Amino acid sequence: MLSIALSKGRILEETLPLLKAAGIVAAEDPETSRKLIIPTSRADVRLIIVRATDVPTYVQYGAADLGIAGGDILTEHGGNGLYQPLDLKIARCRLMVAVRKDFAYEQAVQSGARLRVATKYLQTAREHFAAKGVHVDLIKLYGSMELAPLTGLADAIVDLVSTGNTLKANNLVAVEEIAEISARLIVNQAAFKLKRDVIPPLLDDLRRAVK
Ligand code: PRP
Repeated sequence: MLSIALSKGRILEETLPLLKAAGIVAAEDPETSRKLIIPTSRADVRLIIVRATDVPTYVQYGAADLGIAGGDILTEHGGNGLYQPLDLKIARCRLMVAVRKDFAYEQAVQSGARLRVATKYLQTAREHFAAKGVHVDLIKLYGSMELAPLTGLADAIVDLVSTGNTLKANNLVAVEEIAEISARLIVNQAAFKLKRDVIPPLLDDLRRAVK
C-alpha cells in the first residue's frame, strides 16, 4: 500500500488533475469528504488528508510514503528524512516581506532599527533577516498575518503573496521577495528504497503529467 499525504485547499485542487494523469483518482472528493483516509482508483494507493504544515511530518516518519507540500512549508520543516525529487510547478506564489503603506521599510533597515516581524515562517524569516544583517524580533502567528502591522503588533510580516489582493485590501505593500514558492512532491527516504517497484514508476508518471 502506498500512502500519499495531501492538504486541502489550493494544493489539493491543483494536485488532483496531476494524480489523475498518473492514473490515480480519489474515490471521494477530499475537499468535501469528512474522511481522512481516502481510497483511490488504484487498490494499492490511498490519500491521507492532513494539515499543510503536517505533510512533511507524516512523510518524514513514514506514516505516508509520499506527500505534496509547498516550498514554504518544506523550508520551515527543514526536510529531514525527505527526498524532494519533483517540483510540481503548482500553487505558485512568493514569500514576501510586507509592511503598511506608510512604513518606511528601507529607511528603517538602513538606520539599523530593530524590526518586529510577525510570521508563521519563523525559521525562514530568521535566516532571511540574519543574512541581511537586520535585527528582528520575530512574533509567531498562525494565520491572518496581514492584521499584525494594522494593529501595531508588528512593523512587518513575512507571508505568502499570490495575487496580491489580500495585501492591497489591507493597505499593505510587499517590499522584499524572500523566495519563489511552488508545491513539491516529497518522498520518505526509506520508502523510496523499499518500494522500488511502485515509487519510481509513479514519479515518472507525475513527471510526465507536470510537463
Ligand atoms: C495566503 C496568504 C495570504 C493570501 C495571499 O493565505 O497567507 O493571506 O493567501 O493571497 P493573495 O495574494 O492572492 O491575496 P491562505 O488563503 O492560503 O490561508 P492561510 O492564511 O491559512 O495560509
